[in-house]
Amino acid sequence: IAGEVVVEPSIISVTEPLLLNAVRGEKVERPPVWLMRQAGRYMKSYQKICERYPSFRERSENVDLVVEISLQPWKVFKPDGVILFSDILTPLSGMKIPFDILKGKGPVIHDPIRTASDVDQVREFVPEESVPYVGKSLTILREEVKGEAAVLGFVGAPFTLASYVVEGGSSKHFSKIKSMAFSQPNVLHALLQKLAYSMSTYIKYQADNGAQAVQIFDSWATELSPVDFEEFSLPYIKQIVDSVKKTHPHLPLILYASGSGGLLERLRLTGVDVVSLDWTVDMAEGRRRLGLDVAVQGNVDPGALFGSKEFITKRIHDTVRKAGRDKHILNLGHGIVVGTPEENVAHFFEVAKNLRYDGNRS
Ligand code: CP3
Repeated sequence: IAGEVVVEPSIISVTEPLLLNAVRGEKVERPPVWLMRQAGRYMKSYQKICERYPSFRERSENVDLVVEISLQPWKVFKPDGVILFSDILTPLSGMKIPFDILKGKGPVIHDPIRTASDVDQVREFVPEESVPYVGKSLTILREEVKGEAAVLGFVGAPFTLASYVVEGGSSKHFSKIKSMAFSQPNVLHALLQKLAYSMSTYIKYQADNGAQAVQIFDSWATELSPVDFEEFSLPYIKQIVDSVKKTHPHLPLILYASGSGGLLERLRLTGVDVVSLDWTVDMAEGRRRLGLDVAVQGNVDPGALFGSKEFITKRIHDTVRKAGRDKHILNLGHGIVVGTPEENVAHFFEVAKNLRYDGNRS
């Protein structure tokens, strides 16, 4: 039609953050890079904020602080993804499950959920009412990074969240949630169902307020045998993915579970766009097992950042070579560890951002 401007999709994508282009399988000159737990913990600038605001909940529920902390790694290292500073437990307060995160102790759930009537009390999550600071922070982050990086949201997967609320905090043997799973499975299923529904709502809310991709953390799913993963984790992640894809078909979803070598193919069955590998899986093998339909993220050992600069460089090169040139987000195999030298993180990003795929097709 005369006068109508036809915008080619490939032209639009040029202005998109590298991370989104890579996930969609478009030609990119290098893999995008960001680091799990890049906001918080190891940066001196973060520790300074902790001195002034000792409460984790305050730091993660105040828009100015959330934005400032989320932008700390962005300002210094310019990663290709800027993750919201928050916690997987943040939505629990809005579900009538009070919690705290205490220094040296980690997450504490004051009234753990143990019975069917406890599960009945759990409220459906309405993000705009309970966590308006999350939406506001994401919107500001989108403005601040100006499309130069992707703004990343995240949620906990139902099983991992359930492990905290049933155990009452972090756990070594997961005996309470396993007791529930293996003696009152219906109670656990009812809880997982509520969490799955609420996390679907939460992902959509994050996307509507500025998140351009969302990572689902099922950090403790690998405490389950594969058959139990198929019953207590996989169906609920799949439900979340199906629900989000109905309303937000183009929102990339990333799934991470630590120690997931035994479950890789099952992680893919959830329908996510990106599977995040931990460092105990060889990247080339992970690629072979997952196929090229799905993107991969990872998987340098966070411990490599305690090594020499040469070692860090070598590990980045090995990982990128093994991942191949399509659909790879360079990252660690789990979060950065407290005590990681900031200059080694700077080196990691410098090497990563100067990579160029051979024989660039673009
Ligand atoms: O990645 C980022 O930079 C964003 C921030 C982020 C936090 N928690 C902030 C935080 C993210 C993505 C999380 C997710 C999270 N929280 C997970 C899944 C990720 C993973 O590593 O597997 C889990 C299992 C939790 C639960 C949790 N929160 C634990 C076990 C702890 C205490 C242990 C620890 O590592 O310190 C937290 C506290 C927490 N969440 C901190 C931060 C920066 C540390 C406490 C603090 O800084 O005061």
